[in-house]
Amino acid sequence: MDRLVTFMDSGRPVVLVTGGAGYIGAHTAKALAEANFLPVVFDNLSSGFREAVRWGPFCHGDIRDADAVAAALDAYPVAAVVHFAGLIEVGRSVTRPDLFWDVNVTGTGRLLSALAARRVPRLVFSSSAAVYGSAGRTALETIPETAAKDPASPYGDTKLAGERLIQAHCRAYGLSAVVLRYFNAAGADPSGLIGEAHEPETHLLPLAIAAAMGDGPALTIFGDDFDTPDGTCLRDYIHVTDLAAAHVAAVRAALAPGAFEAINVGTGFGCSVRDVIRTVGAAVGSPVPTVQGPRRTGDPASLVANPARAQTLLGWRATCSALDRIVTDAVRWESQPAYGAGRRQRQPELRSQFAA
Ligand SMILES: NC(=O)c1ccc[n+]([C@@H]2O[C@H](COP(=O)([O-])OP(=O)(O)OC[C@H]3O[C@@H](n4cnc5c(N)ncnc54)[C@H](O)[C@@H]3O)[C@@H](O)[C@H]2O)c1
Repeated sequence: MDRLVTFMDSGRPVVLVTGGAGYIGAHTAKALAEANFLPVVFDNLSSGFREAVRWGPFCHGDIRDADAVAAALDAYPVAAVVHFAGLIEVGRSVTRPDLFWDVNVTGTGRLLSALAARRVPRLVFSSSAAVYGSAGRTALETIPETAAKDPASPYGDTKLAGERLIQAHCRAYGLSAVVLRYFNAAGADPSGLIGEAHEPETHLLPLAIAAAMGDGPALTIFGDDFDTPDGTCLRDYIHVTDLAAAHVAAVRAALAPGAFEAINVGTGFGCSVRDVIRTVGAAVGSPVPTVQGPRRTGDPASLVANPARAQTLLGWRATCSALDRIVTDAVRWESQPAYGAGRRQRQPELRSQFAA
């Protein structure tokens, strides 16, 4: 933490935000700037947007490119790194596990080597509830960080492998790290400047909003016979603004050199697919058209965090994650996105060279 403290004396401490042109990274860059840090975004724009980089300098590069990572770290006195850069689509991880391991694990390894060489003291890593297994848990039980790790997808495997690599670096090189296991990130910044813009979009909320607005197909409900109150899956939706605040708290957390902390970021409350559909219909003013589909392989009935550790260790808890607030902010964004899918179609060169 010396480097963080020293640089704070002379100006804004620099935080390198890998993947900061993406959905959660851009919201975190904004929150860091508001907390008086200078967010420097490092991103290859394979799924992120240059327009989402608004709160600090931009370095264009691939996380697997050791020279590009070194150049960014040498250009700024980086006090901490928040590492979002990675591939996120669970379904694609099944068909391209090689690519997911390359970006999410090899890429994280390259970053860690560069941090060790420069003695950067703090890393915050985007992990996921996808690291947990569902065996032996009832639908209404929340998940503590100590729950069994048994990912149901190659995506989850890469997140768990990333965590373990980071933990090994903490032991070996004195890095202090916080891995944040997000549950379901949702919503958009209330400013309307940034929001969720995945392509392809696979998340429930934007798909439900598009369906209600007549901009997308009817929403498929994957399974209605789960052991939950209304038969549809329960998920823990966390407003992206709350999620961003958790990263700021993790950058600031007082941790000893070598400390490694894994922390759930969720609300502790589950909302069902039907809850989301009802809330979106009310916010848009038009019901969400739906079709009933079968369960998807590996979809657990419930994924709800026990968020107690985040409160104890980070002093963080969700304050703006009520479902109607998440949906209101997401609908505002989807009604007038500042950037998004159309741009990608117009500029195909922005696609990753690895895109299928
Ligand atoms: N969205 C969620 O609900 C969720 C849940 C759990 C964990 N996560 C994790 O959070 C992180 C961010 O997710 P998101 O939803 O913001 O996704 P996103 O796709 O919007 O953002 C990812 C960013 O990483 C960049 N990127 C990808 N590969 C890169 C590479 N090789 N080099 C440099 N940059 C690269 C992309 O261009 C993009 O800007 C990911 O690591 C994801 O696994 C997301």
